[in-house]
Amino acid sequence: MMTHPNFDQLKDRLAGIVPEFELEAKFELAREILELKREKNAVILGHNYMEPALFHTIPDHVGDSLELSRVAARTDAEIIVFCGVKFMAETAKILNPGKTVLLPSTKAGCSLAASITAEDVRRLKERFPGVPVVTYVNTYADVKAESDVCCTSSNAVAVVESLASDTVIFLPDEYLARNVARETGKRIIFPTLDEGAPGELGYEMIGWHGRCEVHERYTVQDIEDVRRMFPDVVILSHPECSPEVVEASDFAGSTTAMIRYVEKTSAPRYLLLTECSMGDNVMAAYPDKEFLRLCTVRCPHMNQITLEDTLSALKLGRHVIEVPEDVRVRAATALERMIAIGPSGKRD
Ligand code: 13P
Ligand code: SF4
Repeated sequence: MMTHPNFDQLKDRLAGIVPEFELEAKFELAREILELKREKNAVILGHNYMEPALFHTIPDHVGDSLELSRVAARTDAEIIVFCGVKFMAETAKILNPGKTVLLPSTKAGCSLAASITAEDVRRLKERFPGVPVVTYVNTYADVKAESDVCCTSSNAVAVVESLASDTVIFLPDEYLARNVARETGKRIIFPTLDEGAPGELGYEMIGWHGRCEVHERYTVQDIEDVRRMFPDVVILSHPECSPEVVEASDFAGSTTAMIRYVEKTSAPRYLLLTECSMGDNVMAAYPDKEFLRLCTVRCPHMNQITLEDTLSALKLGRHVIEVPEDVRVRAATALERMIAIGPSGKRD
């Protein structure tokens, strides 16, 4: 459970990150949100990518996708306000259907979730009958409903390794799939849907061409350029980055795994190859550590979530997340299997 700072503490924490005049207005909004949240018996969940003034003021819990889905599953608040993107809010509704789940903006999508439909998954299952389907949590409810088990970036390897099958369909993130294949030593293919029935399966992972529009932009060249200037830098990347970028990094892991790595180590300086607001949030949390910034990359979806819209969400009870019950029940099975498998870091 987060403790919420007073204005002076917030000003100190975000000095040099958010200008003071902006912080004053945002603190006032945050105060109103916290009051309303108590009145309405709501809980606010904030993903690690939320902008700094929101991240440090209103969430009761912050974390990565797996952590927040676990909190959502067990909360007894009446309303869950999800400061994250739509697939995360849907996941909360699937796991805790008796609650009202609110997403402050209808524009908070995700390029990975948009890359695959339930029909695509059905066609893959027809083409590869009997092969278990592992679906990244960054998908919509109807895609999860077609899956055997979900995973997040923090437990993808553990989920794949938990299956008693030599071959798995792993959807929809091409780079995460390649990173998992590399780590588990599995061979991977990316089939087209209109090929005929497969013969003997000569590979162990079947992927899909979804990409995160944020993480696909980091390159090995970026890493080489930074290392040339700062040879002692420790570089952390998210497994939605390409395998080449992950390979050239010192550590790869979920958003929270990266934060924990920074917390537990004492490198001369760090560079985080992930969404930029998280870079700000980590800098604010660890003022004694040094960070390099490569910060042209923001998630246009996560950035839709503002304090203004969160206040409106609570005031007006919007935007309510609904999942048809038949879809929810099937998606819940895949998600509950995922929740049962804990996080696993990568390349410590
Ligand atoms: P995490 O599960 O690591 O928080 O990642 C979610 C996400 O959308 C990263 O782009
Ligand atoms: Fe989706 Fe990438 Fe944004 Fe995460 S950072 S929500 S994976 S587009």
